[in-house]
Amino acid sequence: MASDQPQALGAHAHRVHPHLFSKKEDHMTKLDYVQWDITSICNLKCLHCREKATLSSVADDLSLEEAKNLIDQIVAYQTHTLSIAGGEPLLSPIIWQVLEYARGKFKRLVVSSNGTTIDHETAIRLGEFVTTVQVSIDGANAETHDRMRGQGNFAKAVQAIGFLQDAGVTVATRMTLHKGNSEEVREYVDLAQSLGLPDAYLRRVIPIGNAKKYGLVTLTAQELKKALGTAIEYGRSLSIHVASADYFCQIAFNDVARAKAQKIQAMGGQHIGGCAIGHSSFYVMQNGVIVYCPYLPVFCGDLRKETLELIWKNSPMMRVARSLRHNLKGKCAACEYKFACGGCRAYAHATTGDILAEDSGCWL
Ligand SMILES: C[S@@+](CC[C@H](N)C(=O)[O-])C[C@H]1O[C@@H](n2cnc3c(N)ncnc32)[C@H](O)[C@@H]1O
Ligand code: SF4
Ligand code: SF4
Repeated sequence: MASDQPQALGAHAHRVHPHLFSKKEDHMTKLDYVQWDITSICNLKCLHCREKATLSSVADDLSLEEAKNLIDQIVAYQTHTLSIAGGEPLLSPIIWQVLEYARGKFKRLVVSSNGTTIDHETAIRLGEFVTTVQVSIDGANAETHDRMRGQGNFAKAVQAIGFLQDAGVTVATRMTLHKGNSEEVREYVDLAQSLGLPDAYLRRVIPIGNAKKYGLVTLTAQELKKALGTAIEYGRSLSIHVASADYFCQIAFNDVARAKAQKIQAMGGQHIGGCAIGHSSFYVMQNGVIVYCPYLPVFCGDLRKETLELIWKNSPMMRVARSLRHNLKGKCAACEYKFACGGCRAYAHATTGDILAEDSGCWL
């Protein structure tokens, strides 16, 4: 990796001198989406988990007082969504006090879980606080899911979805795509239908943490196109909304998203779509360090030492995030959707070591 590149080094992410990035910055939009890993503690050891790159002990996690302070600082921006993940967030000793404190302060309050920690009572309790619970499903059947997540955990995740539905909680599922489960996307959509879910989300694996350690094989651009295209088309035939977080996928398969992307692009960089780091989102690690996203933990600031306002406005790396589109390389630099999409910078970094490199998972 070139020494001038922002480095993603987990809990102790490096400060860097962004001198090689152009001075041109996009304007901040509005802080709309914050993801927070409330803890690194987890009861599973999934083969793809990014978390091993940021593992800490509970001693490092924000205290309840610090967590409340974080929520107050985010609320000041009238942020739309707070998404709480981990680790397994329901194993955090402060989760219920945090949810109680955050209740009603965001339009969307989301908890992401592996499902094994949600029984009937927990589902009812979650329903008092959150708008959505995301439960990970990493295969269309027990064999594939449990290969990634451990024996018996598919059944527990499916059971958790049932408990949540009984409690009237909105549930979203997410499947992390790689070579070992990409042939099952139709069955995954079938599963969503049989569980009565209106949506099914997919996201390609980012080869970091355990995914890198265990050599999980990522999909080529054409394989990804096939898997996502198949899932989306099949979902349409069953009236299930299937989507992926990758903007090039939305541009490829969704007419409305493509029209929006063309409009953004025509504005010549005045407005930015796609990856939202520095524009409308960031990620808070369990120890209060603010980084770009869970898959690209580039140090932007430390809430134990600075205010959120200072980090959001002035952090050198936040400013680098706002200049990324003007410095992209390869096909992303020349792309007609550079300002509307820009590729996944975490995927580019994980696969090349260069945060500005083209996103090799894109088939457009
Ligand atoms: C880190 S987990 C935390 C919440 C909870 N423990 C769970 O498993 O859902 C959040 C989501 O990130 C996904 N994930 C973990 N490592 C990943 C990676 N390397 N690439 C893409 N997604 C990943 C998980 O599958 C899960 O859907
Ligand atoms: S993906 Fe979720 S459940 Fe699996 S090890 Fe990571 S944090 Fe734990
Ligand atoms: S080439 Fe890059 S910017 Fe263009 S659509 Fe693909 S990932 Fe997005």
